[in-house]
Amino acid sequence: MSSSYFLFFSLTLLFITVLSPVPNFASASVEEGDALLKWKETLQVPNNSLLSSWIPLPMNSSASIPCTSWFGVVCNADESIQKLNLTSSGLRGTLQEISFFLLQNLTHFDLRVNSFFGPIPPQIRLLSKLIYLDFSQNQFSGEIPPEIGSMVSLEFLYLYSNNLSSSIPSSLGALTSLNVLSLYQNQLSGLIPSSLGNLSNLQSLYVAENNLFGPIPNELGNLKSLTILVMAMNQLSGYIPSSLANLSNLNRLNVAHNKLSGPIPIELGKLKSLTRLLVSNNTLSGSIPSSIGNLSNLQFLFLDQNELSGPIPIELGNLKALTNFQVSQNLLNGSIPSSLENLSNLECMFLQRNNFSGLIPNELGNLKSLTDLVISKNQLSGSIPLSLSNLSNLQILYLDVNRLSGPIPTGLGNLKSLTDLDISNNKLRGSIPPEFANSTRLQRLDLSSNQLVGEIPKEFGKMKSMLNLYLSNNQLSGIIPLELGSFHELLVLDLSTNRLNGSITRSIGQWAQINYMNLSNNKLGGKIPSEIGKLVHLEKLDLSRNLFTQEIPSEVQSLQTLQKLDLSHNRLSGSIPNTFTNLHGGIDIDLSYNELTGPVPPSPNLLNASVQGNPGLCGNVTGVKLCTSQITKKKNDPFRQKLILVIMLPLIGVVLLCLFTYGLIAYRQRWKKSPRKPLEEESGDYFHITSFDGKVVYDDILKATNDFNEDYCIGTGGYGIVYKAKLQPDNVVAVKKLHSSSENVDHSGFLNEVRALTNIRHRNIVKLYGYCSHARNSILIYEYLENGSLGSILKSDVLAKELDWLTRVNIVKGVANGLAYMHHDCSPPIVHRDISISNILLDSDYEARISDFGTSKLLKLDSSNWTAVAGTYGYIAPELAYTMVANEKCDVYSFGVVALEVVMGKHPGELITSLPTLSDDHLVLANVGDSRIPPPSSQVEKDVMLVLRVSRACLNSNPHERPTMHQVSNLLMKA
Ligand SMILES: *[C@@H]1O[C@H](CO)[C@@H](O)[C@H](O)[C@H]1NC(C)=O
Ligand SMILES: *[C@@H]1O[C@H](CO)[C@@H](O)[C@H](O)[C@H]1NC(C)=O
Ligand SMILES: *[C@@H]1O[C@H](CO)[C@@H](O)[C@H](O)[C@H]1NC(C)=O
Repeated sequence: MSSSYFLFFSLTLLFITVLSPVPNFASASVEEGDALLKWKETLQVPNNSLLSSWIPLPMNSSASIPCTSWFGVVCNADESIQKLNLTSSGLRGTLQEISFFLLQNLTHFDLRVNSFFGPIPPQIRLLSKLIYLDFSQNQFSGEIPPEIGSMVSLEFLYLYSNNLSSSIPSSLGALTSLNVLSLYQNQLSGLIPSSLGNLSNLQSLYVAENNLFGPIPNELGNLKSLTILVMAMNQLSGYIPSSLANLSNLNRLNVAHNKLSGPIPIELGKLKSLTRLLVSNNTLSGSIPSSIGNLSNLQFLFLDQNELSGPIPIELGNLKALTNFQVSQNLLNGSIPSSLENLSNLECMFLQRNNFSGLIPNELGNLKSLTDLVISKNQLSGSIPLSLSNLSNLQILYLDVNRLSGPIPTGLGNLKSLTDLDISNNKLRGSIPPEFANSTRLQRLDLSSNQLVGEIPKEFGKMKSMLNLYLSNNQLSGIIPLELGSFHELLVLDLSTNRLNGSITRSIGQWAQINYMNLSNNKLGGKIPSEIGKLVHLEKLDLSRNLFTQEIPSEVQSLQTLQKLDLSHNRLSGSIPNTFTNLHGGIDIDLSYNELTGPVPPSPNLLNASVQGNPGLCGNVTGVKLCTSQITKKKNDPFRQKLILVIMLPLIGVVLLCLFTYGLIAYRQRWKKSPRKPLEEESGDYFHITSFDGKVVYDDILKATNDFNEDYCIGTGGYGIVYKAKLQPDNVVAVKKLHSSSENVDHSGFLNEVRALTNIRHRNIVKLYGYCSHARNSILIYEYLENGSLGSILKSDVLAKELDWLTRVNIVKGVANGLAYMHHDCSPPIVHRDISISNILLDSDYEARISDFGTSKLLKLDSSNWTAVAGTYGYIAPELAYTMVANEKCDVYSFGVVALEVVMGKHPGELITSLPTLSDDHLVLANVGDSRIPPPSSQVEKDVMLVLRVSRACLNSNPHERPTMHQVSNLLMKA
């Protein structure tokens, strides 16, 4: 019963047409058909296109063939072509050869999502019965023909996402039947014609993302039916006309990112239906009108990046529906009104970069829905209110760069959802409360530049998710606690400019991912521990201005990604280790003002290093004296042999260049609701052991796969063949041998990318352990997952039965979480570009893990986002066909296809295009759900329906209307 719903529908249509009365002999459709065939001749039509149904009419045949059997053609009762719908048909060509004269009965003409180019011919005006014209998402260029203004039957005109230029013809003002005018994402310039004010039936006007300039015409205030007005991202100037306040049905007003000036009209307070008021990034001035407080349906109020002054009106506390409130980067002053405590639905509040002063109101502690609170860079004083510890949903709290004083409230440790806390650059005093450590999800903690005293609490060790810890510029004393060794994921540590003493704990060896470490300007002493050599991702290491003694550990040579090394102003002695010559070139090294002795080793890095202030050093380097041997034997260069070594070593290195990192650590789950066991750690240990020697790993892999023997092949992915390699009894990895065509040129850029990817830890993302480039093969090494790909399971009738509805919902959730993480928690965001069921893998619990993240970009190496072939047919977002720019929204679309596929058990095919227009009533599980498994219980059915509705939203052909993965993952959390 399940999947036949659509099929049934189209069959009925067919019957109706077949049974309709036999036409007159020389029916209109013969000529019309010829006209279409002629046009088809000029088009590039993909193989297997449904357009192959457009075939010449046999002599003496029934003339109704175009009406009954041509794809995309619908005729009227008199067998004349009425609708032509070639949406998303992969067509390329122009409209030059189409005979509009012969198609005058057309009422619907839909070419959306193809690759049509060239001008829209003015003859289009001949289609005088046209009601619906959709040429959106093509590459049409040239002007919008003014002749369109004579097509007075038009109700829908979609030309968005093309390359149309020149100005909007004022003749469009004659289209008084028009409901929707959508021209966004073109290169239109010039003024917005005031004649558009005559479109008395217009409901939606979209002209965003063009180069329109000049004022917003007053006359738009006449558009009494308007519900949506979007003019963002142009160069519009002048005032916001107060006439807009007459648009009593207006729901969305978006004029953000223009050059509008003057005040926000007080009259806008009359727009009672408004849910979104977006005026960000203009040069609006004056104060925020208190009348805005009347907009009781407002959900989004974005006034940020303007020149608004004065206080936040108390009346804004009436906006009970508000979820997002943005007034950052203005000149607002006064105190933050405590009336804001009434915004009980508020999720995000951004007040940063203004001149707010006074106290942070205690009442903000009542905003129980708040997830993001940002008040940075103001002049707030007083202490941090204890009440903030009631904000149990808070994830981000930024109060940095203010004048806050007093102690850090211990209650902040109650914020169990907090991931990011910045209260730096204030005047906070007292010691760091150990209770902080109860916020175990903290990933970034910045307490720097305050007046904190006392020790770093050893309880901090509990914050195992910590990625970035900044405590610099305080007066902290005592030792660096051993317990910090449990920050297994630490990336950045800045403890500089404090009064820390003692030696560096050996537990630093645990910070396997760290890339920035600054302990400078403390009183740390003793020997620099050899464990420093384990921090193989370090890019900057600053231990300057301490009391370190003894020799520089030779293990420094392992720091192969180092860019800056500062050991200056210590009491280091002995000679500079020869192993410095093993460091790669171009490092900025400062060893000045120590007690180092002996010759400076002949490393190219040291030739430019700062080494002055070490009286015992000698060498042919600025700042130190020549060695005696150099003075006497200058002619017979004694370094010659060593120099050869220096040159040869890197050369050998090129032949076998391996980069290894290891995914030691399980991802700490971000959501309390779904506690899970951590990832297995065994493979991690292996790479830990061998992390210095890529050759060992490469040889082991060769052995384990019997020289990449077919027997070990477990699949062919994009870019390469995948093998299963058992490296140790309990350590299995998946190895992807890259096609040699994937060879790359910019090696260092490539390695940086790989490094970024290996640093990613999320329980829904397949762990990339490392990459190895050998003269013969390049390989990527991934975590191995027992249950293989979602694709292979769904395609097998036997295996698919294993996936019950709950498991399927969980798989979709997992994919959403993984994507949300890559899009929103990685900086810069990482776009997958090729989400499909074949690169979603399942672990032994059928938890989803996305594989091949970043690979498509990685292997193309064109740091831009321009995509050539990435993506799997059937999963590619429609806009990619013409923009060629892959962004997050393309992943959202592919996710939508995958989610739908998980529910249906097969690729949704045609349903993709019809889904976004299906109402909830028609979106019935019984019609689409996988019939291989029994129907879900009513509870689970709700969750599955939620998945269906979410995928419907993701498949919106307009990328801007698709939700973000963050929103998707939040929505699905409710399932
Ligand atoms: C054309 O077909 C697509 C689906 O195939 C549909 O979404 C769209 O509404 C149709 N256009 C018209 C004008 O009927
Ligand atoms: C349009 O349809 C009418 C009948 O509905 C027919 O008489 C006429 O020939 C058609 N026009 C064209 C150009 O085919
Ligand atoms: C502000 O708007 C202009 C267009 O007027 C745009 O170019 C710029 O990127 C916007 N700035 C921000 C921060 O969004």
